[in-house]
Amino acid sequence: MSPSRSSGVDNVDSTVEMGRPLRLYPTGLKAGAVLGSRFQIEAAIGQGGSGQVFRAWDRVLGEPVALKILRPDRAQEKGWIKRLAREVKVARAIRHPNVCRVFDLGNVDEHWFVSMELASGGTLRDTLRSNQERPLSDRLADARAVCAGLAAIHTVGIIHRDVTPQNLLRMDDGRLVLSDFGLAVQGGVTTVHGGTPSYMAPETAMGHGSNQRSDVWQLGTVLHEIVFGLRPIWDSGSRGLILRTPMLSAASSLYRELAKLCRACLATNPAGRPGSAIEVSARLAALEVASLWSTLDRFLRPGAVLLKGGARIAGALVSTVLERSFARRRSRVASRRMTAEDRKLLRSMAAKLKAQGQFDDAHSLDRLAGPEHPP
Ligand SMILES: Nc1ncnc2c1ncn2[C@@H]1O[C@H](COP(=O)(O)OP(=O)(O)O)[C@@H](O)[C@H]1O
Ligand SMILES: [Mg+2]
Repeated sequence: MSPSRSSGVDNVDSTVEMGRPLRLYPTGLKAGAVLGSRFQIEAAIGQGGSGQVFRAWDRVLGEPVALKILRPDRAQEKGWIKRLAREVKVARAIRHPNVCRVFDLGNVDEHWFVSMELASGGTLRDTLRSNQERPLSDRLADARAVCAGLAAIHTVGIIHRDVTPQNLLRMDDGRLVLSDFGLAVQGGVTTVHGGTPSYMAPETAMGHGSNQRSDVWQLGTVLHEIVFGLRPIWDSGSRGLILRTPMLSAASSLYRELAKLCRACLATNPAGRPGSAIEVSARLAALEVASLWSTLDRFLRPGAVLLKGGARIAGALVSTVLERSFARRRSRVASRRMTAEDRKLLRSMAAKLKAQGQFDDAHSLDRLAGPEHPP
């Protein structure tokens, strides 16, 4: 699959600051430009509220890299540099295969930039747009990745605050990584207000701040999109908003359990949601395992009966044949003097029986064969 890369801004998906319309500010950098005689700009690969993201070639390390270059107007504001620095520090506190690795913050040729590992497979938004008919196993792999990445973030007490398909990037090996720590906070309260409107938890949208449960809301929205291919749809009922159950093309119990998990994450009251992505991860794993067992049970039960029956019949046959053969050999062995060849045969049969765990019979054959090196 080759996802189309979005280099423009999708208004619905983009991070915005509260009360400010989203505007694009190109950095003026073009392919071929070299930053600080080290980073050769190759192409613009993304754009967000804070600036433009480029694929570049690190001439010193000989590796591709992603550079997020701060918008020129923002580079004039001290607050923004601090914010970028915090973004890098927060991101560097986490090492996980489903979290984008951020390398450094730099300032060269009048550009402030963040360098990070390059995700060359586009964003989850690209995947969702370009491939509606993905197999459930792929969807589950993505769901697991997003949960695991956010769980790693929650484990160290960070709130991400911007879990959206635009901030989930696909690596070369197909893995999804959670990126963009521009709004992330560790523990306390933040002075940076913002987010992606269509992914904002109700409490955040109402200005009551956010915590890990607000991230869980965003995770629920993303999981819903991954699994069911569309954002949650709300109907207004007499007692408030009601999440519409997605129409399931394949209404398996696994889909129903996944819908339940999304519903739990999307409880309008934060107290009704799982406490963190760690819990969501655990619930996802549990429902996957339960589904695997019930599938195995359903498909293997008749087979297992057959197998067991077959094994019993085969076992009985084998032991009858062996018994007869032992009896014949014993009487033959007893009726004449044993040759070296007989002894060899008996010992090899004993070894076979030992390997099958039939130690008693093996022992008696060994005894019959006599000592290996007779005095
Ligand atoms: N490491 C990366 N590798 C590849 N593309 C990236 C990377 N980081 C960001 N992008 C692209 O740039 C876009 C904007 O980057 P992001 O960090 O989300 O900036 P903003 O804080 O402005 O939202 C992303 O949606 C994605 O398309
Ligand atoms: Mg972003």
